[in-house]
Amino acid sequence: MGEAGVVANNKPFRRPLLLLLVLLLAVLVGSCCAEAAADEGIINSKGAGGRRRRRTSRRRTSAAAAAAAPLMVPITILKSAVDAGAVCMDGTPPAYHFDPGSGAGNNSWIVNLEGGGWCNNVRACQFRKTSRRGSSDLMEKEIPFGGIMSSSPTDNPDFYNWNRVKIRYCDGASFAGEGFDKENGFYFRGQRIWDATIRHLLSIGMASADKVLLTGCSAGGLAVILHCDEFQAYFQPTTAVKCLADAGLFLDAVDVSGGRSLRSYYSDIVAMQGVAPNLPPACTARLDTTSCFFPQNVIDGIKTPIFLLNAAYDVWQIQESLAPNGADPSGAWRACKSNRSACDTSQMMILQDFREQMVATVRGFSGSRSNGLFINSCFAHCQSELPATWSSAAGGSPAIQNKGIAKSVGDWYFGRAEVKAIDCPYDCDGTCRHII
Ligand SMILES: *[C@@H]1O[C@H](CO)[C@@H](O)[C@H](O)[C@H]1NC(C)=O
Ligand SMILES: *[C@@H]1O[C@H](CO)[C@@H](O)[C@H](O)[C@H]1NC(C)=O
Repeated sequence: MGEAGVVANNKPFRRPLLLLLVLLLAVLVGSCCAEAAADEGIINSKGAGGRRRRRTSRRRTSAAAAAAAPLMVPITILKSAVDAGAVCMDGTPPAYHFDPGSGAGNNSWIVNLEGGGWCNNVRACQFRKTSRRGSSDLMEKEIPFGGIMSSSPTDNPDFYNWNRVKIRYCDGASFAGEGFDKENGFYFRGQRIWDATIRHLLSIGMASADKVLLTGCSAGGLAVILHCDEFQAYFQPTTAVKCLADAGLFLDAVDVSGGRSLRSYYSDIVAMQGVAPNLPPACTARLDTTSCFFPQNVIDGIKTPIFLLNAAYDVWQIQESLAPNGADPSGAWRACKSNRSACDTSQMMILQDFREQMVATVRGFSGSRSNGLFINSCFAHCQSELPATWSSAAGGSPAIQNKGIAKSVGDWYFGRAEVKAIDCPYDCDGTCRHII
């Protein structure tokens, strides 16, 4: 959620604002996913810095013995990638975190692409370049692995013992840019970081994997959608390759003032960072490049099995695409967009319409047997890496027809069941559990 505010004003977030948002989100997630509220640490694992996160997790450990302290995984700086020009925005090497698999999981790999917004102009990219999102010099030396990255068999029964890798995000265009802005010293090397890091992982054992899963959330979820088929192409036909995009279904939506805030933002990113050549060719053959940065124009063409996990009322999209400050000069949406109890009837109708658009977007996609789908009616953003939203064990994952997220993804990955779950709308009557 570090991207909060970027669309609205093209300004980098400020820490006090971020913390405020984090608190508001705590209230939102707390009220949306009742049991999850017990684990307030979930909020911190995306937005705030590492120190705060670790403090929270210690406190949580003592408060709730059931929830194991998250595994902290050290960073690896991939210096060898620099020769291939695969560098972060400031020219530093890319980086990843790796926790080796064991037992039956020793030949299976999860590759997780970190998320965290984008940058679309000199000012925003300058800010990014001097943060952990643009420089491996400034990244945390270790990060927690939770949810689908967890090493706990209770919290993460299907993937806990796999080799698990998190690739840090330091390019600014969902691992898809290519270019160099000499005047400002910006390296836009997302595609090279993607290629170099995957090649490196193949060289340290992933090449002989029998099962792999490419995953990521938010800007990382979009990266999964853009790169899923490329990922598949790196492996032998004997490797089972699948992808999971969490909160990556960014819609090309009309905002509350009738404009297209996210489209104009995406258009700037694509142009500034040289994304066009790296977009899926099946899309760029028929549509403009900005359209091909939108998942709705890409997902139907993905050949590799892919699972889309998204909240129908994705809070990032409500705040930054549907009702960004720039499209809401009177502030009519200010309360509603961070507190749905404050939405009036007409605002609620706009939110329901947004959900309808999302459901319509996945209609064709869901017709493919190999694809998976979980569109729940929470107000959330990123649910696979937060212990409380991923796992029922950690306190009540959002469920659709009594099946939570970890179970849904596992059933789909291992072919135990077809998973095409779309929850009824937020205010529907109680035929499905929708976690208010
Ligand atoms: C991986 O597990 C298999 C069986 O589970 C075992 O035969 C093999 O030796 C293991 N390999 C490593 C590197 O641990
Ligand atoms: C959310 O909105 C409701 C209704 O306006 C209000 O009573 C409540 O205090 C608000 N909650 C927060 C955290 O602002």
